[in-house]
Amino acid sequence: MKNLSLIAAIGKNRELGLDNHLLWHIPEDLVFYKEMTWGKNVVVGRNTLFSMPSKAFENRTAFVLSPDNLDVSFDVNSFDSMDKLLNYIGTNKDEFMVIGGASIYQQFIPYVDTMYLTEVDEYFNADTFFPEFDVNEWDVEVLGEYSYNELNYTRNKFTRKRVK
Ligand SMILES: NC(=O)c1ccc[n+]([C@@H]2O[C@H](COP(=O)([O-])OP(=O)(O)OC[C@H]3O[C@@H](n4cnc5c(N)ncnc54)[C@H](OP(=O)(O)O)[C@@H]3O)[C@@H](O)[C@H]2O)c1
Repeated sequence: MKNLSLIAAIGKNRELGLDNHLLWHIPEDLVFYKEMTWGKNVVVGRNTLFSMPSKAFENRTAFVLSPDNLDVSFDVNSFDSMDKLLNYIGTNKDEFMVIGGASIYQQFIPYVDTMYLTEVDEYFNADTFFPEFDVNEWDVEVLGEYSYNELNYTRNKFTRKRVK
């Protein structure tokens, strides 16, 4: 889907989080998240929604996958099935950014055309992981190489290869 992208930060073993928290604090990466999602629709799982400060949803419209109606302090659009949400995105011209967590990435990877992955060059203790994917199906562009508090990380943009 042309209007659907994904953003994540992962460790060397594709680590995403532990106890419903992120594994590192990299301010520059939070700025990148803000730049990439500002004014857009974000697709998020119930666990990640409750793990993030409400500020992370400021000037974004949240589309949450959850079997229940959610009680949160800001407006969210709840969808109780992947099919309904995919159908909504498919009939909409606006941009949507998938922001996690693990179960949401797993379900959406087949449908996204672009992935922005911040890859931290370190192993972490984690209980949620980014799904394995076949890198041969993607063109990779290095957007930048950075370092913060002895953590080295590279930001890559993956664009799905199209059959020519
Ligand atoms: N490093 C990063 O870039 C990054 C980004 C985002 C999140 N994270 C981390 O990822 C972890 C959370 O990931 P997670 O997999 O546990 O949770 P999640 O993907 O945020 O949310 C999972 C929940 O969403 C609901 N859901 C998922 N698919 C659904 C569907 N098809 N239909 C209806 N409801 C659906 C279910 O809620 P019910 O349980 O109510 O059924 C499910 O338990 C946290 O540690 C977070 O910090 C990391």
